[in-house]
Amino acid sequence: MSEHMVCLTSDLESGTAQRFDVEGHRIAVARVGDAFYAIGDRCSHEDFSLALGEVDSENCEIECARHGASFDLASGKAMTFPATEPVASYPVTIVDGSVVVELS
Ligand code: FES
Repeated sequence: MSEHMVCLTSDLESGTAQRFDVEGHRIAVARVGDAFYAIGDRCSHEDFSLALGEVDSENCEIECARHGASFDLASGKAMTFPATEPVASYPVTIVDGSVVVELS
């Protein structure tokens, strides 16, 4: 297990996501209000960057910009077709105003 500071909380506005590459992991970090989530950035449908998609703050999901599949930000679960497989999800903590992602 290792922890990695990816950005400051102030770097991400609520309702947005950004991609980070950490030790070979492509991670999409999203913010909804004061909550931060980290999931695998590769859409499980066709390997598209989820961070380029739209954050659905109401349902805490992100929609792939390529074909519209939605993923739960907390679990990485695929919520709508055409994706059926989940993406990874990573624990996130906030430490002194920084977003820290835990890799296992
Ligand atoms: S690549 Fe994401 S839904 Fe097709």
